Amino acid sequence: MGSVNHNIGIDLGTTSIIIYIEGKGIVLNEPSVVAVDTETGKVLAVGEEASRMVGRTPAHIKAIYPLREGIISDYNLTKELIRRFLLKVYSSVIIKPRVAVCVPSEITGIENDAVIEAVSSVGARKIYLVEEPIAAALGCGLDLMQPAGRMVIDLGGGTTDVAVISLGGQVRHASVTVAGNAIDEAMTHHLLRNYNITLGKKSIEMLKKEIADCMASPLRNITGEVRGRSLVTGLPQRLQLTSMDLLEPIRTCAEQIAACAHSVLESTPPELAGDICSEGILITGGCSQLRGLDDYLSKRLKLKVRIAEDPINCVAIGTGRALEMAGVLQTGFRDATPGLRG
Ligand SMILES: Nc1ncnc2c1ncn2[C@@H]1O[C@H](COP(=O)(O)OP(=O)(O)OP(=O)(O)O)[C@@H](O)[C@H]1O
Ligand SMILES: [Mg+2]
Repeated sequence: MGSVNHNIGIDLGTTSIIIYIEGKGIVLNEPSVVAVDTETGKVLAVGEEASRMVGRTPAHIKAIYPLREGIISDYNLTKELIRRFLLKVYSSVIIKPRVAVCVPSEITGIENDAVIEAVSSVGARKIYLVEEPIAAALGCGLDLMQPAGRMVIDLGGGTTDVAVISLGGQVRHASVTVAGNAIDEAMTHHLLRNYNITLGKKSIEMLKKEIADCMASPLRNITGEVRGRSLVTGLPQRLQLTSMDLLEPIRTCAEQIAACAHSVLESTPPELAGDICSEGILITGGCSQLRGLDDYLSKRLKLKVRIAEDPINCVAIGTGRALEMAGVLQTGFRDATPGLRG
């Protein structure tokens, strides 16, 4: 069997890991979670399998999201997570691939090392690190090589990354730890305070995806039912909630995101700001699908806002595509193959 040199792109997200293989497309999308036996320290499972174990196994088996808040909190678990996912998608035809990894923008040197070690441990020939906004823009088919300003906002689980890109590099960048997870927390606290109810993660996620709306109004108001536990009686309780009931926590988060984008726009050179004015803003990431967020940002920033065609997968796709553009990307992309780093 001849060797095929594949390009692989990995979106190493705090919530999910998505792997793209050139010529095959998206081959894996699983939660970035590890099930660990806390008594032995052994990793029992990763991804879907790990998340299925949670809550149904003895207390000493814990689910850990090692990439919380966009920052790799646990070196060894992160390594194991990446290694196991890569082994899952490897087949005998993929020999010594070139692998690009999209790393969270706030990543430190040690965290980078964990990623690089994991990828090289499964036999990658070349390893590159790509910044999320560059990957997101490439994955959406934006032509980054033009001398024109483009604004991309990636709204993930842990962080929202705002970037202005021109001529293949990031001109301005800022990020806030307000994204999907922070919205979940804000909703959880709000319901606790105002309705005396505690909800599980799945119910909160359902409310966020189905009911929450940044542009909710008495005329634009959906109702849904959740089940949780009453803090008053301690017993299970059903509760009807509407988009309006969730507006306060959602808006608070949306406003922090808007403020971050606003500060980036303020510091953007005027020529590029003019380009953004005519082109608008592209939003990507799972959280870009939050109902009404595009309209809210558009109103707040007085610019057109467009949701990417494939908001969940575009970072992984763009990370893979970055490999083809290795020579021309200015910043936000670098060769991290062990032995090459100085
Ligand atoms: N339809 C939807 N409406 C609202 N939120 C959604 C929707 N679909 C997914 N999300 C949220 O998007 C978040 C995950 O987005 P994504 O997969 O882009 O994150 P990530 O890449 O893992 O995180 P990060 O980029 O911060 O490291 C989760 O909080 C999830 O609940
Ligand atoms: Mg992401």
